[in-house]
Amino acid sequence: MARMTKVIDLPSMTKLNKANGQISTQLIHIFRAAVQQGDLQSGDALPSSRELAQTLNVARGTVIEAYEQLIAEGVFESHARKGTFVSQTLNHSTTETLKREKQETDIPLTSAAQAFAEILKEFRPLPHRPFAVSVPTGRTQPNDMWRKYGNQYRARGIAAPSGYDDPQGILSLRIAIADYVRRSRSVHCDPEQIVITSGIQQALYICSHILFNANDTVWVEDPAYRGTTAILEHSLHHLKIIRVPVDEEGIQVNIGRTLAENARAAFVTPSHQYPIGMPMSLARRTALLAWAKQQNAWIIEDDYDSELRYSGQPFPALQGMASDQVIYLGTFSKVLFPSLRLGYAILPKKLVASFCGLRALIDRHPPSADQHVLAAFIQEGHLERHIRRIRKVYAENRLQLINMIERHIPKHLGFLQSGDQGMHMLLWLADHLDDRAIAQSALDSGISIKAVSPTYSNQTKRSGLILGLGDFDIQQMERAVTQLAKIIQHHDR
Ligand SMILES: Cc1ncc(COP(=O)(O)O)c(C=O)c1O
Repeated sequence: MARMTKVIDLPSMTKLNKANGQISTQLIHIFRAAVQQGDLQSGDALPSSRELAQTLNVARGTVIEAYEQLIAEGVFESHARKGTFVSQTLNHSTTETLKREKQETDIPLTSAAQAFAEILKEFRPLPHRPFAVSVPTGRTQPNDMWRKYGNQYRARGIAAPSGYDDPQGILSLRIAIADYVRRSRSVHCDPEQIVITSGIQQALYICSHILFNANDTVWVEDPAYRGTTAILEHSLHHLKIIRVPVDEEGIQVNIGRTLAENARAAFVTPSHQYPIGMPMSLARRTALLAWAKQQNAWIIEDDYDSELRYSGQPFPALQGMASDQVIYLGTFSKVLFPSLRLGYAILPKKLVASFCGLRALIDRHPPSADQHVLAAFIQEGHLERHIRRIRKVYAENRLQLINMIERHIPKHLGFLQSGDQGMHMLLWLADHLDDRAIAQSALDSGISIKAVSPTYSNQTKRSGLILGLGDFDIQQMERAVTQLAKIIQHHDR
């Protein structure tokens, strides 16, 4: 396709004051300043002298005079039959010097601005290499049907460009999800209770706003997903966060009751505790629900990767046992791909309008085209087929990884907690090893890995590494584990 010349608008021309006369001199000053400030950059095309003269209502000769002067100075250059452009050479160095000299504003950053800038460091995605979580390539990418529905619907069909859509998400996707979660997770809901979100992350954020009053107390598992704790720590409601320790059965409800009986909500990962990996026992589920009933508290059930089980039968979701108190959060990040940014919240009916109201203020609604493609993908049975397929790939990778870790990582330095589901495993490290330093060294040598200690509260920190299952080949994984073993041994010295 022929490259179109970009003729830029010239806001700086508002500085021209015809009453002051000397119009061509004024034009020269204005253009020079625009180049120095970077409003005009090398290669930018200028309007033709005729066009500019017309717009400014001045004689064409005046504009030509200004252009010729700037060409003579080397600020502009003229190309036969193409027009006048900002010069490729002089302009670059002038702009760069000026940019360097520009002073940063003195306005101080608020503590919130500083805190969010820190948070960004934690949430930068890791490079797509072992052991980043959920990197779909080849075998774990959605199949041709995904592309087919995309082509079919986006061009002319239901997903073609249109006006604003429903903040709750499109109905056909909500119907498809209601049907899917009933079969796969024993979640019972009407499509009217479902809100399509930009992943669980957005749903957690909305929950943190709408469920609480100022200074309310909430329970959060210890350890827990940083995406949850970071939101709560920076909530505008100044929430009091009670970290409730987990043991091998999940959140210790009796400890939560002792620490803060009257909390307003509990944020939990019952089907696959994040990051440790075990499901919450039936006894704990019953105790948690009994507490929530008694206290009239919400339970936020983060069900981020329960579809990926490698043995046994899954526990049904908590939502099915107390649909009026549980907010169930699901995502397509793990079973399809994270860049899709689609998830769902299944809400008690009385919360739906508030949830959608805040959602509308954040980003109106999720991209409609992707929702239509996903709805068709689920309705036609492709999602469940896809999950069966990727489960095999991840199960295979998981076994390979367990085997490699057993062979390469000395037992006194690392102990693997593999669990039997999900997209990551936990490698506990000996207490004296600094998991953050090891994760950083690993990253520096091309291995994407996260430390577990930031998921803990200060009192209970443990050392370990979160190893994600992605669609990596065996040689890649073997190289990464061998290298990781060397790094761990190096840090042992
Ligand atoms: C426990 C947990 N909850 C929520 C999320 C957020 O997922 P999403 O991509 O849907 O925002 C993640 C992502 O890794 C997670 O691990």
